[in-house]
Amino acid sequence: MASFTHHIFVCGNTREPGHKRGSCAPDGKQTLKDAFKVELKRRGVGATTRANHAGCLDQCEHGPVVVVYPTGIWYGRVTPEDVPRIVEKTILGGEILGDLVIDESCLNNPGCPHRLGPREAS
Ligand code: FES
Ligand SMILES: [Zn+2]
Repeated sequence: MASFTHHIFVCGNTREPGHKRGSCAPDGKQTLKDAFKVELKRRGVGATTRANHAGCLDQCEHGPVVVVYPTGIWYGRVTPEDVPRIVEKTILGGEILGDLVIDESCLNNPGCPHRLGPREAS
């Protein structure tokens, strides 16, 4: 059996409504992860690229968040509509999608403007 070439970790964390950090799957469904599974299979790479449910990846304010390993590409504000493009361009093509990538300055930065929110950042 071929080993995995990629793992896609998809945050499926759910927090209570109104939580200040929000959450990537407020409805408790795993819609995004399921969309990856379907698309990976459709493109014939379901055996070598795995989409995994993840708990909070601590980039909540940029969510829904996905991280692709082994390259460590972080994507934010990902919707199910983005999934075919991510599989096509990033998994199969090795490209980083500039409109989805979380800026390096935001990752693990409690002071990033998204995390502080509009009032505290100003
Ligand atoms: S809830 Fe998804 S990164 Fe925190
Ligand atoms: Zn940010």
